[in-house]
Amino acid sequence: MLRLVTSHFRAGIAVAFAWSTTGAIAAGPERAPFSPYVDARGTITLPKDFRTRWTHLGSWVVQQDGAPGQGFHDVYTEPASAASFRKTGQWPDGATLVKEIRGITSGPLTTGPALWAGDNKVWFVMVKDSKGRHAGNGNWGDGWGWALFDAKQPSTNASVSYQKDCLGCHTPAKATDWVFLQGYPTLAR
Ligand code: HEC
Repeated sequence: MLRLVTSHFRAGIAVAFAWSTTGAIAAGPERAPFSPYVDARGTITLPKDFRTRWTHLGSWVVQQDGAPGQGFHDVYTEPASAASFRKTGQWPDGATLVKEIRGITSGPLTTGPALWAGDNKVWFVMVKDSKGRHAGNGNWGDGWGWALFDAKQPSTNASVSYQKDCLGCHTPAKATDWVFLQGYPTLAR
């Protein structure tokens, strides 16, 4: 029933107020949310269940102590976003990328000296926005919403400026829409 009501409203019929009590419609009248992880003001939240429900795109390991990204990195997207990318080579509007960084644990195993993932540290999130919806919001621009969640406070985006906190490091991947595709064999057609 709730779903019916929601789609009814999303279809554009008289969204003149927000239903904050049910949480079903967080959007104001002017801008319906295009992603379940983004509210009408462009605030990004960390998706849940990406480990169990989403497609794993690939992993990176940055081993060196003190390196900015030291840890195990696992990258996920929605199954439909991965399928769409495979078909078109573009991220569909609303696609979400989550990079989970965990610490590195190591020890001898029967396979050899092994490294495996430890505790959660941070999550990086990118949400594709092909329409420039949130101009003037420091977390949005260059075709994406950008967010960083610390494991100690996962409910708040710790970044206020993607230009300061994200873009410089992502410049090597500018030609591929800021995404480091070489690490994602799951996207190969
Ligand atoms: C220190 C450099 C650095 C900073 C700062 C940085 N990134 Fe990245 N990011 C990378 C690199 C390099 C990769 C891929 C390789 C890796 O993870 O080691 C990556 C991968 C990602 C991925 C996985 C998809 C992809 O693009 O390959 C997401 C999502 C992401 N970053 C989001 C962000 C966001 C959001 C910010 C800012 C809040 C940010 N990053 C800041 C360097 C950085």
